[in-house]
Amino acid sequence: MTVMTVPHARTSALALPLALALFGACTPRSTPAAASTAEPTRAAARFPDGWRLTAGASSTFAAQTMAVSNSPQASAAAADIMKAGGNAVDAAVALGFALAVTWPEAGNIGGGGYTIVHMADGRSAAIDYREVAPLAATRNMYLDANGKVTDRSIEGHLASGVPGAVAGLNLLLERYGTMPLSRVMQPAIALAREGFVIDTALAGSMARAAATVSRNSPVTPYFPNGTALPAGARLVQPDLARTLQAIADNGAKAFYEGWIADSLVAEQQRGGGVITRADLKAYTPVPRNAIASTYRGYRLLAMPPSSSGGVTMTEALNILEQSGTMPAYGSTRWFHLLGSAFQRAFIDRNSKLGDPAFVKVPMEQLTSKAYAKSLAATIDDARATPTKTLEPKMAQPVREPEHTTHYAVVDAQGNAVSTTTTLNNSWGSGVWVRGAGFMLNDEMDDFAVQPGTANMYGLVQGEANAIQPGKRMLSAMSPTIVLDKSGRVLLVVGAAGGPTIITGTTQVILNVIDHHMTLADAMRAPRVHHQALPDSLTYEDGGIRPAVLDSLHAMGYAMRKLRALVNINAIMRVNGGWEGVPEPRRSGGAVGY
Ligand code: GLY
Repeated sequence: MTVMTVPHARTSALALPLALALFGACTPRSTPAAASTAEPTRAAARFPDGWRLTAGASSTFAAQTMAVSNSPQASAAAADIMKAGGNAVDAAVALGFALAVTWPEAGNIGGGGYTIVHMADGRSAAIDYREVAPLAATRNMYLDANGKVTDRSIEGHLASGVPGAVAGLNLLLERYGTMPLSRVMQPAIALAREGFVIDTALAGSMARAAATVSRNSPVTPYFPNGTALPAGARLVQPDLARTLQAIADNGAKAFYEGWIADSLVAEQQRGGGVITRADLKAYTPVPRNAIASTYRGYRLLAMPPSSSGGVTMTEALNILEQSGTMPAYGSTRWFHLLGSAFQRAFIDRNSKLGDPAFVKVPMEQLTSKAYAKSLAATIDDARATPTKTLEPKMAQPVREPEHTTHYAVVDAQGNAVSTTTTLNNSWGSGVWVRGAGFMLNDEMDDFAVQPGTANMYGLVQGEANAIQPGKRMLSAMSPTIVLDKSGRVLLVVGAAGGPTIITGTTQVILNVIDHHMTLADAMRAPRVHHQALPDSLTYEDGGIRPAVLDSLHAMGYAMRKLRALVNINAIMRVNGGWEGVPEPRRSGGAVGY
């Protein structure tokens, strides 16, 4: 995929040109040698010779505001809102709704997500708008008559949880925004109504999804006659425009109780889904306290359950903190230490975490430094530790991630929003709500549909994450904000990619804090992943030195290679402003002024 640190040339006829006209194109520039705070000088990184992304690339810089997402048009919508006087929260909500139009593989109103918000006045919060299992859901609803797992949690009408995105974005705006919903939704409505030109990234995504979506929803604006629209075509979504306008006019209630709810329920009934009007009416987003942890003197605000992201990251970072300094980036010891920390944190994640409304999560223990110290003591410097519970049938490969999306927004006051949202698989369940114009999620597969059996990410999860009506399925989404040693926002980061979200987000933080990389290098650096089961260390093709690979084999690691790991979007404070970097392995846009 091409790196786009400036907006893509083929973009909306509306939002993006407006943003560019108002603010000028953001100038990529090199990072200044050192910030005026106590931040360390950022040194040039060295990557393995075979690695396809070069070190030393520039980032998009802006003095006051920055928005980064997988869609240049959606980032531009956020910039437009801030230029019109909105704060980062107004802009993030505008971006969230715009993504539902311009990045329909993961941006959504038919799914759910999580936001970490930190306001310049010191307030912070975690907003949980994860989907919930419908009231008619049962523990074994995805098993066949022989007790075998079917694919009905992944594709089709039964795969959907009750969507939370509209309620969650609305709550975020009400609590921390300054503009009305009707204002911040304007860019999204315009993009849906007037259309926008499809770029190669979206065209590729559509082509990959054409068969699945057309099988479940024969008529959609994306796949007229079952064929994906090509790059350069204009995507107009009149049904979605009407839906967004109804939400803008009447609030979240329009989605959960009005004609949109009727359309969603009718769609469910058409294909054997079980979401009802009662499910939609009962949906409630949950404001929570962010997990406030520390790492080498920096403060982290991370997502608590129902996502596993914050707990697992905190546990892994606490283990890593036990080593006085991190080993050299990319060395054998570095791979071993990261793999061992992730493995231990994922063992807890997979067995102990679930929706806190249904299971008691030992938060204090899992996030404590003392517990991390005891886990660090189990790491053998010379050998990989087998994940004892591994059984061969569970050893499914970690897949190259193709789902979910993260966005980050900051404003001139220092307010910051970190949001990850998803339909689970790219294009969700493949079901498009007729008449209302949006995709539905397949989030039910994030439950342990049969505790002890791997899900589509190869994750083997336990009873704590079994299906129950009204319960939130465990997520790996990890929207995070890192504060520097003087308490200012340093880094706004998060990712797409199932369980690799946790390990990828952690690595960008490590690259910035321990390895003193620029944000561009921190994002381009090769990544590694361990999730306990399958018991293997996954690395990116070309991202490891041959001698290091040999050493890790000799230490007992099963090594797995993927072309790319994780889709991350991030913003970092630098001297005089902000740098924004969309995922160099995929596509996206950083827009600011
Ligand atoms: N659907 C991916 C996750 O929530 O982790």
